[in-house]
Amino acid sequence: MLTVTSVLLALFAVSSAQQLNYTHHAVLDPNEKFQLNWNPATDGSGYFTFECVVATRGWLGLGFSSNGAMAAADMVIAWVDASGNPQISDRHGPAQGNGYPPADSKQDYELVSGRKNDTHTIITFRRKQDTCEPQDWKITSDTTRLIWAYNDQLPTSADDISKHTERGVKSVQLVNPQTKDGMATILADPSTVTYDFRLTNVTLPTDKRTLYWCEIMELPKWNKHHIIANRMLVQKGNERYVHHLVMYGCGEEDMSEFLGKPASCFDDTHVFTPMKKCRNYRAVWAVGGEDFVYPSNMGSPFFDDPKLRFVLIEMHYDNPDLMPGITDSSAFRFYMTEKLRPIETGRLTMGQLVSPVQLAIPPKQQRFTAYVYCPGKCTSRITEPINVFTGLLHTHLLGVAMRVRVIRNGVEIKSEMRDDHYDFNYQTPVYLSKPLVIMAGDDIIVECTYGSMDRDTVTYGGYGSDNEMCEALLEYYPKRNMTSEACMSIVDPEALLEVLGLKKDQVDIAGETWLGEQIVTVMNQNQQNVSITDWYKNDLKVTNEMVTKLQDFMQNSSQQVICGIQGGANDGGSFLNLDGPIENPRPYVDPPAVCTSSGSGSITTSQPTPTTTNRSSGGVLREVVNELIDAFRKFIG
Ligand SMILES: *[C@@H]1O[C@H](CO)[C@@H](O)[C@H](O)[C@H]1NC(C)=O
Ligand SMILES: *[C@@H]1O[C@H](CO)[C@@H](O)[C@H](O)[C@H]1NC(C)=O
Ligand SMILES: *[C@@H]1O[C@H](CO)[C@@H](O)[C@H](O)[C@H]1NC(C)=O
Ligand SMILES: *[C@@H]1O[C@H](CO)[C@@H](O)[C@H](O)[C@H]1NC(C)=O
Ligand SMILES: *[C@@H]1O[C@H](CO)[C@@H](O)[C@H](O)[C@H]1NC(C)=O
Ligand SMILES: *[C@@H]1O[C@H](CO)[C@@H](O)[C@H](O)[C@H]1NC(C)=O
Ligand SMILES: *[C@@H]1O[C@H](CO)[C@@H](O)[C@H](O)[C@H]1NC(C)=O
Repeated sequence: MLTVTSVLLALFAVSSAQQLNYTHHAVLDPNEKFQLNWNPATDGSGYFTFECVVATRGWLGLGFSSNGAMAAADMVIAWVDASGNPQISDRHGPAQGNGYPPADSKQDYELVSGRKNDTHTIITFRRKQDTCEPQDWKITSDTTRLIWAYNDQLPTSADDISKHTERGVKSVQLVNPQTKDGMATILADPSTVTYDFRLTNVTLPTDKRTLYWCEIMELPKWNKHHIIANRMLVQKGNERYVHHLVMYGCGEEDMSEFLGKPASCFDDTHVFTPMKKCRNYRAVWAVGGEDFVYPSNMGSPFFDDPKLRFVLIEMHYDNPDLMPGITDSSAFRFYMTEKLRPIETGRLTMGQLVSPVQLAIPPKQQRFTAYVYCPGKCTSRITEPINVFTGLLHTHLLGVAMRVRVIRNGVEIKSEMRDDHYDFNYQTPVYLSKPLVIMAGDDIIVECTYGSMDRDTVTYGGYGSDNEMCEALLEYYPKRNMTSEACMSIVDPEALLEVLGLKKDQVDIAGETWLGEQIVTVMNQNQQNVSITDWYKNDLKVTNEMVTKLQDFMQNSSQQVICGIQGGANDGGSFLNLDGPIENPRPYVDPPAVCTSSGSGSITTSQPTPTTTNRSSGGVLREVVNELIDAFRKFIG
């Protein structure tokens, strides 16, 4: 066994001596002192090869962590010793807190090469994607928080490693079919053209944290192009304030009167008129999002409709500390080509309508999950199967995990459109190695799991970063003949409030404005009429029993679905009533990993139990739906 390994390693070393080329690259720290190159495994059981290039002559450490902390992280420490020999040590963080990381009982990191010069240490090592060791991290397509560290002091042995002097954490997608060369190829191609949507000098308010800023822009009269990549150009220094950007088309509407008159998208009393007319969601970027490059045979059509003359740019700014004097001129750049590619892509959005009476997350919960259903009745509008190849999974600060589940004929199929280590600050689209196929009639569940341990009151649905959302913005091919489609679900708000102890006669859902915050008034114990959000903050006392009931409600209550085309003549589409949960989907069970001997139980073949209960009646729900329908187009938040 040992001999085989050494021979393999020797072969590997010989071929790598000619210089390995890496498909992936990340700079882990702001000062570019810790750089990482890697080649992902080509199959699940293969090896990942990593090259750390670090500005130190001492030791360097790289760790794989679920939350960015050292506790329980998988770590590797390496250095080039005084005699010039590279050394490596497979270690793990202490069970809790920070501290000296003990060596793993089994060493799974294999040294490939190591050298140093006057300024840098360069160590190359490899490890299996899944080492099957509990002390090691299994590399998946989820977000991975890489923790990095180094110290210029050279260890004399693996038992003599001094504490780091520099350390940090950086989220990356280690498994990602998009390589670092994709953008370089597009930039080098003389047929690539760019178009920027730039905001000018937006001043962030100092009296509120959240600003949605809206600007109408006129498109030039260009021939049809394909968007082949996009990049957010965040103004330097403003990275912490620029939260997301959405671009909507305005259909055939003439918006010229709004040119040069950017404004807040909404406030307590008014809505920027174009918000109601420009509903055609065309592009999105969210905080932490990296360059997005389409597969080389695909493009998203743009300038394809001469009647579309105006777009609306909606930017979400987040200024939690109310810092004064912040102005922003960030831009969103499309990279396009007139050499149209063979496959066109389209957009499909699934999620929950954004409103404080749609989602209520109790405080002090490790995990609380919203289940958003898009039933087969809605997907049956798809005439041919669509291939989802990428998607932005979107929650706000409390999001810890998200997944898009697909159930076909009552059986769940494997979906990698998920992230069990969601990072709000790293909302880069999930880029699937293999497309997720959605067929007519498939039931889809979008699950958003939140962790609210650091909150003292209920967190409710809303547009601010401290409110919550649950949305999956998917992109697929081949494009269908509409610009974008959506399947948005709605729970009965009165039933939700009833779970929280409010009787029907205490609740008034007949407000005038379409903004969620304004439509719901509640009479509290003191017989005062207060807004629902104030009631959540000041009056609601959450009990354990309530939490249990609420989780049941979020999973099992009746939901209505807006199954619609965005931007079409009829924005809302038709309503579908989904009674109760999708029939007990049998969760997909991963096949046992090649290296484990213990299987994960047998897959049962029993049929799901049909659900026969009707959990809510139509009345108020229908009215609220009509109220909320206007809010529908705002769901990107
Ligand atoms: C890496 O790229 C260089 C330059 O493109 C090439 O000469 C070399 O053969 C490549 N090495 C490997 C191992 O593929
Ligand atoms: C040392 O190696 C690093 C990484 O390859 C390189 O960037 C740097 O220029 C080298 N320094 C010297 C002094 O050769
Ligand atoms: C941006 O705004 C600041 C202050 O509001 C002003 O001094 C500056 O000239 C503006 N810049 C541009 C390009 O409009
Ligand atoms: C295209 O969309 C229209 C409605 O906008 C629909 O009537 C028609 O059937 C669609 N055609 C195809 C091929 O999907
Ligand atoms: C609260 O609102 C209800 C109508 O929804 C009204 O009848 C009642 O008088 C209001 N109470 C107060 C104290 O304003
Ligand atoms: C939802 O209903 C199913 C079936 O009745 C039940 O097994 C499940 O526990 C319920 N969910 C919650 C969170 O109570
Ligand atoms: C559920 O509602 C449907 C129509 O709204 C009705 O036909 C059916 O009988 C109801 N089922 C139950 C169990 O009440």
